[in-house]
Parts: sequence; structure tokens; C-alpha cells
Amino acid sequence: MIILKIGGSVITRKEEDEPTIDHENLKRIAGEIAESTHQKLIVVHGAGSYGHPLAKKYAIGDEIRNKEDLERKMMGFSLTQQSVKELNGLVTEHLRREGTLSVSIQPSSFILTENKRIKRAEIALIKRYLELGFVPVIYGDVVLDENEHIQMAVLSGDQIIKFLAENLHAKRVILATDVDGIYNKNPKKYSDAHLIETVSSLEQMETGEETNTDVTGGMGGKVSELLELLELKIESEIINANTEGNIRKALNGENVTGTRIKK
Ligand code: ADP
Ligand code: IPE
Repeated sequence: MIILKIGGSVITRKEEDEPTIDHENLKRIAGEIAESTHQKLIVVHGAGSYGHPLAKKYAIGDEIRNKEDLERKMMGFSLTQQSVKELNGLVTEHLRREGTLSVSIQPSSFILTENKRIKRAEIALIKRYLELGFVPVIYGDVVLDENEHIQMAVLSGDQIIKFLAENLHAKRVILATDVDGIYNKNPKKYSDAHLIETVSSLEQMETGEETNTDVTGGMGGKVSELLELLELKIESEIINANTEGNIRKALNGENVTGTRIKK
């Protein structure tokens, strides 16, 4: 079983404050997934401009100060949940149109966190979809949290991958984003940044240079999740989804430029 995460930076215009889809990329990627020869596959996608600006505006996951603040955050939760669900609808629709039998799975209706980490999830359901031959499509969402001081949390697609890979024993984990992989520093800011082909610890990169709209830790958050997976002996790779053919090749097991998270 392969888990593929498509970053919000690839299928949305992440720099926008309003939800903005990148139809062209989404259609091409859906085509590449349909053309590949994978067997069981789970697609996880990020929220991009459908999730981060709203989650940030309503400070979902921050401590609740009073009843008014709780009500405001609940409104933010509801708005964010709806927005990322709309993005998920577009992703599953494109996948289906290009020939993949996708099925939508909403994290906020089957996952609970405690202190922002997944505590419980109805994993048997996903197994069943996979057995039947569906491609489940799961995504970064807002979820209920058992810590009474926060009540709600933002759950990144990156944490979802880690959880699914661990609990469903994924054979391969592929993260597709808008850069070639992990660099020693942010390649969008520093032209002299160089790609690191193998990462086995956080010390190998600077992670303090994220965009200020990403509420789930950007590249640093991604690497932390993948390093936790590595502890469980599950290796992963980060590749560039903006390079045509990369997703198809990676799913087919061909070599693609990128970063491998391995010992
Ligand atoms: P996605 O939306 O695809 O999940 P993110 O926006 O969260 O991806 O993270 C990817 C971004 O992280 C890149 O566009 C890049 O600008 C930024 N970044 C920051 N530091 C690094 C680094 N050391 N190596 C690679 N990318 C980095
Ligand atoms: C974020 O998910 C979820 C919300 C903001 C609601 P991700 O962290 O996986 O999204 P991207 O890939 O960075 O856009």
C-alpha cells in the first residue's frame, strides 16, 4: 500500500488569502495518478489557501479564553471544515474524472486528537475501502481535541500520513510538494540553498523560514512527522509535484529527484 500526500502548495495557490484552486495542476496530477500502476493507494491532501488562512484567523488550536472566544472559534471551525471539504470535493472529482475510483473521507468525522496529536480514529473503515479497491482521499482538517483548554485542533495532512502509515503498515510514503525536497535552507529565499538527498535528522536543515500563513509547521512539520515514521522503520520520500511526470514515476517505483528520509 502506498500513501501519497499532495501538498496544499501544489493544488491551491497557497499565497492567496482566499481559497484559490490550481485546476491545471490538479487535473494533471489526477491524470498521473490514474496512469500509474500502483495497487492499493491512499491519497492525502493538504489544505493550502482553503484551510490555513481561516485556521489562522480564528486561532484554532489556541487556548480558549472565555465563552465568547469559544463561540468565535466554533464559528471558525465550522467555516474551515466547510472550506477544506470543498477542496476535497474538487480533488475527488478530478481523480474520478481522470479514472481513479476515489472516495472522500472527512477527518473531523472520524479522528479525535489529544494535545493536537491523533488519539483515536476509525481505521477499520479505511481498511475496508482499500480492500474493496477504492482510493480513499483524506485531507488536512480541523478536528475535536480532548484537551479541554483548546477543544479544537488543526490536523495536518502530514500528521495523517504518519498515523496511517504506522497503523496500516504502508509500504511506501510519498510527499509531493512545490520544491524538489528538503534543502539546507529555504530554496525559495536563498538561491544558494542545496538539496539534501538523504535526511535522517532535523539538524540537517534550517526550518525557521516558513511562510507565515502555514499553521501546521511547513517543511519543518513535515520532516518531524517523517522522522517519527523512520523510527518505526518506515522510509519516505519528498518530491516535487510541479515537475510533470514526477508523481506518476514515483508511484511506479521509478527514481525521481528528491529527498529520501532514511537512516
Ligand atoms: P505543502 O503545502 O506542499 O505541504 P509547505 O508549504 O508546508 O508544503 O512546505 C513547502 C515549503 O517549505 C516550500 O515551498 C519552501 O518554500 C518551504 N521551506 C522552508 N524551509 C525549507 C527547506 N529547508 N527545504 C525545503 N523547503 C523549505
Ligand atoms: C492543514 O493541512 C489543515 C488546515 C489548515 C485546516 P496541511 O498542513 O496538510 O496543509 P498544507 O499541505 O500545508 O497546505
